[in-house]
Amino acid sequence: MAELVRLEHVGDIGVIIIDHPPVNALSVAVRERLVAAVRALAQAPGLRAGVLACDGRTFIAGADIREFDAPPGGTTTHDVCEALDHSPKPIVAAMFGTALGGGLEVALACHARVIAPEGVVGFPEVRIGLLPGAGGTQRLPRVTGALVALEMITSGRHVPAAEALATGIVDEVATDVRDAAMIRARALADAARLPRIRDLPLPPVNRAAFDAALGAITHKARGAVAPAEAARCVAMALDTDFDEALQQEHAAFQVLRTGAQSKALRHMFAADRAAAKGRDAQPWPVRHVGIVGGGTMGSGIAIAMADAGLEVTLVEVGDAAMQAAEARIRTVYDRQAKSGRLSAAAHAARLAHLSFATDVAALRDTDLVIEAIIENIDAKQDVFRRLSTVVRRDTILASNTSYLNIDLLADVVDNPERVLGLHFFSPAHVMRLLEIVRAGRTAPQVLATALALAKRIRKQPVVAGICDGFIGNRIFSVWRKQCDYALEDGALPHEVDAALEQFGMAMGPYAVGDLAGLDIGWAQRKRLAATRDALERYVPIADWICEEGHFGQKTGRGYYLHQDSKRVVDPEVTALVERASAERGLRRKPISAVHIQTRVLAAMVNEGAKILAEGIAARPSDIDVVLVHGYGFPSWRGGPMHTADAHGLGAILNVVRSMFAESGAGWQPAPLLEELVASNRDFASLNRLG
Ligand code: 3HC
Repeated sequence: MAELVRLEHVGDIGVIIIDHPPVNALSVAVRERLVAAVRALAQAPGLRAGVLACDGRTFIAGADIREFDAPPGGTTTHDVCEALDHSPKPIVAAMFGTALGGGLEVALACHARVIAPEGVVGFPEVRIGLLPGAGGTQRLPRVTGALVALEMITSGRHVPAAEALATGIVDEVATDVRDAAMIRARALADAARLPRIRDLPLPPVNRAAFDAALGAITHKARGAVAPAEAARCVAMALDTDFDEALQQEHAAFQVLRTGAQSKALRHMFAADRAAAKGRDAQPWPVRHVGIVGGGTMGSGIAIAMADAGLEVTLVEVGDAAMQAAEARIRTVYDRQAKSGRLSAAAHAARLAHLSFATDVAALRDTDLVIEAIIENIDAKQDVFRRLSTVVRRDTILASNTSYLNIDLLADVVDNPERVLGLHFFSPAHVMRLLEIVRAGRTAPQVLATALALAKRIRKQPVVAGICDGFIGNRIFSVWRKQCDYALEDGALPHEVDAALEQFGMAMGPYAVGDLAGLDIGWAQRKRLAATRDALERYVPIADWICEEGHFGQKTGRGYYLHQDSKRVVDPEVTALVERASAERGLRRKPISAVHIQTRVLAAMVNEGAKILAEGIAARPSDIDVVLVHGYGFPSWRGGPMHTADAHGLGAILNVVRSMFAESGAGWQPAPLLEELVASNRDFASLNRLG
């Protein structure tokens, strides 16, 4: 096995090289050897200076996340930084790839930094519920100023090389970083200079602007504790002694590390990666993507593909629809250009990747076609039939349906093994989740291609099996019912929304409904009306709103009145809610936020357990990924299945039983949930199985 850390002599320069695939994470063993290497460099008489470099694909991407569950011990990242601080010889960091977290902290403790043009730096700790715990909150403000550091550390954003140079985080951008770092190390040795960031005074800061930014962070964090803690530590750079601040930063880090939120976010880190993993099959190459349907979804998908450099041909039914799709896409890119997010060259390049047509014959040379037309199985089958006669036999055929049975689409094409679902979420170029729906005959290579494509277009994939609504919409429709029950029992839409936003959801379900448009769900309910269990408690409020021609924001009215971009309580909706209670013979009573939150969680978990037992989701953590990335479930709670484990499954089952007792059909406790409770196991135990 290769040495984790080695010291190579290159003339009078000692090059310390970390070799710890895949991302050179700072494990205890790496940290120990790094400290030893820094000391060995100091003691080697022939060496005047050092370079800190990495083998493989990246500079250190942070502390080793896998070790955070174990009690702290051994050499810390802080010890590594301290060894660098005490080094009598200058050491220059040669950075490339992703220099993140503890990796950036170690680099900032070096005496200078060089980065490759494609490299990025950042402190992503808040994304796993932590803060930079080895001096990052104190060293970064000393180079960038406190305001920039505050934004970087509390957002966890990756900062590209050019910006790192402009803000002083690195001293140089160079193509051959090791070479450039050696030259710089020699120059520092010649000048007998040991520039240490810890010795720099804090650049002057506009205190009022800083305080205003601090105030906004807690609000933006929506219940996540790490950003506020990280901000508090950055603020210490303004008035606290460096070593004292380091101690407090370390203490705050330890509290977060052992807290429930960081555990949940680390669970999500592993869950995201488990969901994205393919099996053994080899993906097919995808260069040219066809899209049928240029409405909101089709246009969003086209943008997601063009953003990733894929060639896209979008087909619409006629000239007018085609031009409307083109205009829709152009508007998004124009807006991005106007706000400075897209350069003029990138704007032109994106548009150059897109072509438009009115005949599916234009899709002849595509590797993948995604159908994104209306949710109507006959219309979709028509499209698939036509595609089957036009494209190659190995062109993958995908549907963006959110509910319909993909097998029925596979039935009408030649070579059904190439058919699957690619369920994007609106707006498709923004939302991260992609449900990949495995149909009965989908070939493993086709699934592997979809997973590889998801990575390329920077989506978070989850593989789902076929059922009405797949993983996400099936669970959504169930917990939405609990919200509707709360309306009939005594709450109003804005109270339910507030309860769930307080829980940490990005937006309450009624606000989301108004945003997305109520007509889609209405059509869906009408489609399923015939198959609905006659005994099911059915709340008619949404249907009544739609019957009035109110479909949400786009019509100015839905669950709310939409006035001047604000949501206002609509007295007519209040009247409809009260009418629903009266028709069911219920006396309205106050419903607490906790009651709503508990019911919603229990409904998600019970349906999740049913989905698992049916094999629709491969593992509980896949359900967490879907709810967090597609439905606004707070990531710091780790998704519903992880949250249920944390609450205790016995308590969740009790809530499910009382929901069943109250509302009957549809609310039977999931046998898998009962089984787990009876055997004293949790969902995490199923994650470990597969
Ligand atoms: N520790 C341990 N393993 C890590 C890791 C880390 N910090 N970062 C990534 N990995 C592993 C992943 O789990 C994955 O393993 P697998 O192949 O077995 O599933 C493998 O490396 C590759 O990761 P990705 O699939 O994510 O590869 P990408 O190329 O898409 O992304 C990355 C690379 C940008 C480095 C991304 O993995 C990432 O963002 N990692 C987390 C970085 C991070 O959070 N760093 C801060 C850690 S906390 C810290 O440093 C505390 C300090 O302040 C004291």
